Amino acid sequence: MRVLMVASEAAPFAKTGGLADVAGALPSALARLGCDVTLVVPAYREVFAKGLPVEPTGLSFEVPMGARRLEARIFGGRLPGDAARVYFVANDGCFDRPTLYGGPRDYADNAERFIFFARAALEFAGREERPFDILHCHDWQAGLVPAYQKLVYRGWPMLAGARTVMTIHNMAYQGWFWHWDMLLTGFDWRYFNWRQMECHGQLNFLKTGLVFADAITTVSPTYAREIQQSPGGCGLDGVLAVRSDAITGIVNGIDTAAWDPATDPYLPRGYGPDDVVAGKRAARRSLAERLGREIAEDVPLVALVGRLVEQKGIDLVIEMLGRMAGGGRARFVILGTGSVDTEEALGRLAAEHPGVINVVIGFDEGLAHLLFAAADVVLVPSRYEPCGLTQLYALRYGAIPIVRATGGLVDTVVDATPESLGDGRASGFVFDAFDARALERALERALDAHGDRDLWDGLVRGAMARDWSWDTSAREYVRLFERVRAAPPVDVH
Ligand code: ADP
Ligand code: GLC
Repeated sequence: MRVLMVASEAAPFAKTGGLADVAGALPSALARLGCDVTLVVPAYREVFAKGLPVEPTGLSFEVPMGARRLEARIFGGRLPGDAARVYFVANDGCFDRPTLYGGPRDYADNAERFIFFARAALEFAGREERPFDILHCHDWQAGLVPAYQKLVYRGWPMLAGARTVMTIHNMAYQGWFWHWDMLLTGFDWRYFNWRQMECHGQLNFLKTGLVFADAITTVSPTYAREIQQSPGGCGLDGVLAVRSDAITGIVNGIDTAAWDPATDPYLPRGYGPDDVVAGKRAARRSLAERLGREIAEDVPLVALVGRLVEQKGIDLVIEMLGRMAGGGRARFVILGTGSVDTEEALGRLAAEHPGVINVVIGFDEGLAHLLFAAADVVLVPSRYEPCGLTQLYALRYGAIPIVRATGGLVDTVVDATPESLGDGRASGFVFDAFDARALERALERALDAHGDRDLWDGLVRGAMARDWSWDTSAREYVRLFERVRAAPPVDVH
């Protein structure tokens, strides 16, 4: 089965969040199951700055953009492990910029940038020598691909027989644009209606993908249910409810080669379940050096790695820290970037409690790995969470996650109760209400458990033994691809 995967970021080439981890690992997992996978991502400045092997292919072509044409130049590389090809769409005007999407404000021309990307991905695939069976599109940035395949490229032999799968990683980011951007897309205005591309007067890229794709997936079964209602659907719950038969929730896996505490190049020393205590001690020393601060060995280390945005529940953490920092029960390290207000509020807390809280503002892959290794506990108190990957990295690195019962966090973490501890299913601490007190109580429970050496050791060993590799989920994707391939395409007329 030939799969074209279209994503706006992929590790290790360009990353702002979990989408990159998925797009960087799923192609290889599908390839291990016999799929022939080609991944297409934009050639951002970051892609070239990493020093990874990315070479020009010599292929270039023009992509229509309203009345103009933009040149796409194609670069090629391989994903780590060599199982899948990755192609990069270059256009300096669109992608040679300091960040992927802009920030703090989005780039004003993001509609144009990702219209260009979606069309260029298809123009590239249409010039390949063998036809594609599946076009697997991720998030709003690839949201126009299913519509382009059905409306514009349906006569291209390499694309005509393909089925399209739209994967939602986050309903809150939909790619809403000015209606006049329709002119850039080249689509007929008749598709700008409330059933198809339009949403409250705007052009909506994700909605377009959800309407035109032959199948829809999202990154956990619980989130698949949440988005078919308000508020989880972020205004598109009606669109999703109409297509509920086409929606599947498939939980994300993790790249067990890139995230392996035994071989992780970012750690001072590798470790496994048998020497996790020594491994964590070494990681903690190296973290202390990085931070320029001492970290006491006998105080539990609580970490959070993530985008500092409303979704991630940082407001709960700030309130909880205000009460707990003085108590001396734990040491906290937070790594993230995001909203200026949140960054400043965390900075103030860290300044008030220098020996207790460290806040590192920035995106630092190596430090993230080191933190999961050094930590005893990892916080994921999200307001909503489609899947979440940091709780999975925590488990693999022997840190116990504290999560709120939402989305993929429900599907991946089992709350420690006498019963689940007894039968070995417990893997973390789960709280329900989106409330700082509830988070605090869950953390207190974790810290109490940490005080019981045997109980904690059992929990850590159980966490590290869990298999979150991509194998199971990749098999689900293959089954889905086979199903959609056998069915007729969705009727969009
Ligand atoms: P989301 O995609 O919503 O940001 P996920 O938990 O799925 O959340 O994935 C986040 C990914 O980004 C993880 O690999 C996490 O380690 C990484 N990450 C987030 N913030 C940072 C940061 N400041 N530095 C390094 N890695 C980060
Ligand atoms: C999104 C979600 C996150 C998910 C990631 C990868 O960014 O916020 O929950 O893990 O995509 O699917």
